[in-house]
Amino acid sequence: MSLDSILAALAGRLRGAPEALRERILKGLSRSVYRDDLTMVYHYISMISEDYHGVDLPYEAEDFYKTYKGKPSIALPEPHAKAGVDILEVIKSRRSRRRYSRRPLSLGEVATLLYYTVGVVGRTWWGGPKRVYPSAGALQPVEAYLSASRVNGLEEGLYHYNPGKHSLELLKKGDYSLELARIALGQEHVGEAPACIILTIVYRRTASKYGLRSYKYSHLDAGFASQNIYLVAEALNLATVAVGAYYDEELCKLLEIDCEEEMPALMFPIGGRT
Ligand SMILES: Cc1cc2nc3c(=O)[nH]c(=O)nc-3n(C[C@H](O)[C@H](O)[C@H](O)COP(=O)(O)O)c2cc1C
Repeated sequence: MSLDSILAALAGRLRGAPEALRERILKGLSRSVYRDDLTMVYHYISMISEDYHGVDLPYEAEDFYKTYKGKPSIALPEPHAKAGVDILEVIKSRRSRRRYSRRPLSLGEVATLLYYTVGVVGRTWWGGPKRVYPSAGALQPVEAYLSASRVNGLEEGLYHYNPGKHSLELLKKGDYSLELARIALGQEHVGEAPACIILTIVYRRTASKYGLRSYKYSHLDAGFASQNIYLVAEALNLATVAVGAYYDEELCKLLEIDCEEEMPALMFPIGGRT
């Protein structure tokens, strides 16, 4: 599509949009030109005002998490019930750690990390799952994947974590650590970790209630889940770091997800400390 045809389509959309949304889009566009910063477009259309609460985007789901039916399912061991360390000390000592020992992770460590990142811990009043992290409208847009290279008792491969069953679904076999490092702009430490958790966002779950505000909310959700990874890794004496520098579309290709429906948020290479 040419720029002219895109602008003509945008003008058509604007004319047909509800007045309050039209005003928000126009304000965002004009502020983005004035400030030379396209962020303003989204900044303004995602705002709540008395006359504008966004446009709900449809989302049909049986569950509030993905399930890969037909893929091999691997039951995970019970997560640790206690780490034996003080939460305040853990918050204070948490650091981004980019060096990993050669030892493989145990399945118990992986199970504990995944459970305390996005695990289900209860039900909402309408029957939806509640997870360990806070979520706008309890709509739970965050999905977790695991790339396992050296995890005792787990075949090398790319997995999806099913939080309802506390199990892994094998998406494809193989060691993807070097591929992940390449996708992460060549960050070598990513390729050296025995495992990597990747968080994505199915933003329409959130958008079914919060409309255009959902891009903001769903990334905040992912931020809360991400901090859990850091804190649990710290409590288990493991090393991890949030990795946000990656080629989005290549990561989507590796995960075999539609990059517009499910957006990568962060990767977390994880291993023992050196
Ligand atoms: C959204 C986000 C993206 C990040 N991306 C990367 C990254 O691509 N590679 C990396 O080595 N560290 C990355 N980091 C880690 C930061 O560099 C790190 O948190 C920062 O230097 C502060 O250090 P601390 O976490 O030890 O307090 C990222 C952190 C955040 C929150």
